[in-house]
Amino acid sequence: MTPSEASETAAGAPPAPPSALGVGMVGYAFMGAAHSQGWRTVGHVFDLPVRPTLAAICGRDATAVRAAADRHGWAAAETDWRALVARDDVQIVDICTPGDSHAEIALAALAAGKHVLCEKPLANSVAEAEEMVRAAEEAAGRGQVAMVGFNYRRVPAISYARKLIESGRLGELRHVRVTYLQDWLVDPEAPLTWRLRKEHAGSGALGDLGAHIVDLAQFLAGEPLVGVSALVETFVKERPLPGGAAAGLSADTRADGGRGAVTVDDAAVFTGRLASGALATFEATRMAAGRKNALRLEINGERGSLAFDLERLNELSFHDHTEPAPSSGFRRILVTEPEHPYLEAWWPAGHALGYEHTFVHQARDLVEAIATGTGPVPTFADGLQVQRVLAAVEDSAAKNAVYTPVPQPTD
Ligand SMILES: NC(=O)c1ccc[n+]([C@@H]2O[C@H](COP(=O)([O-])OP(=O)(O)OC[C@H]3O[C@@H](n4cnc5c(N)ncnc54)[C@H](O)[C@@H]3O)[C@@H](O)[C@H]2O)c1
Repeated sequence: MTPSEASETAAGAPPAPPSALGVGMVGYAFMGAAHSQGWRTVGHVFDLPVRPTLAAICGRDATAVRAAADRHGWAAAETDWRALVARDDVQIVDICTPGDSHAEIALAALAAGKHVLCEKPLANSVAEAEEMVRAAEEAAGRGQVAMVGFNYRRVPAISYARKLIESGRLGELRHVRVTYLQDWLVDPEAPLTWRLRKEHAGSGALGDLGAHIVDLAQFLAGEPLVGVSALVETFVKERPLPGGAAAGLSADTRADGGRGAVTVDDAAVFTGRLASGALATFEATRMAAGRKNALRLEINGERGSLAFDLERLNELSFHDHTEPAPSSGFRRILVTEPEHPYLEAWWPAGHALGYEHTFVHQARDLVEAIATGTGPVPTFADGLQVQRVLAAVEDSAAKNAVYTPVPQPTD
């Protein structure tokens, strides 16, 4: 968006859709591949005011990033993210790197007049996240948008669950119960990737998986957590230093054959209180043998309940407690009807969607927000709120589960 278009927006007139929307993506491994699919597909499935183009991708190794560009369909490759941010054909900077680089790249991109999509968790600390929010708010005045990549909000069943809660079908909420269980660290010989080092990841299962479920709990309930009581544990204290790419989750390329200290949590369990007084429970672990990507939630309200399992992501369980008891009970809603969120553009009812579609939906929502001049959600402020919860969890755990308030935006 040009400065003149931005000032029109500030004056209240709807902006003209941008004539071009080039994406520049930093990082090309797990999330890089997933976001590439989203950007490649979105303009072919949804009717958009402007189709994004895959302008340039960035990594640090010239050969590897060129190969990634060819594989995923990017026009150009850069080896320095600053060069990517400076490109005239890049209007959106998409950050798919570990948390220690999110703040620096996002701040530079916003200062350069770009829109920003940043993977979760927003940052590695509350202080970084606060700075990012300040920059995003200033940039919003210039017509730029900034969004954090909590893609699970874009599972149609989750989005539909929010609509049911918002319309009062559950009444006043009593319980929000969420777990996110994986098992790729059960093996004590699993390598010490960046995800196990505080200086890169900020925290362990907490920031990786816990960030998602905290965001989902607050998104679905429509209210923030105001306090938590937590325990965290690192079960395996030392691991082999990595010697190359570990399956699915890329590793460092150092190969010195030694072992190093794990400096983040393997698991976090915590309880929390939502602003309305509803109680929440959370469990995030990469040590749950047999559980691959088990994000499960159940919400109980005075009028009914909802349950969801990411491993069956086209389904939502709903119990309407206002129905006569003899015939009531949980029923399965197959969330594939054209009336369900995002489904109008996909397949006939019953032809299921998967994990990768959430990234297409994320791209759709960001492009729509840019074209219409509306703020996209989740905002950087939403990312900061999650960061505050993560920090409160760590503070509480350090005091052996003492109840710890979560600072609110008005505090
Ligand atoms: N939304 C989700 O479901 C989800 C899932 C996994 C990871 N994530 C988040 O995505 C981010 C990336 O995770 P990942 O799983 O893709 O990690 P990854 O290890 O698979 O990939 C990281 C990429 O960043 C690149 N990189 C690192 N530092 C860089 C720098 N300074 N300049 C350029 N490139 C750099 C690496 O070369 C690699 O390509 C993290 O914030 C993570 O928490 C989100």
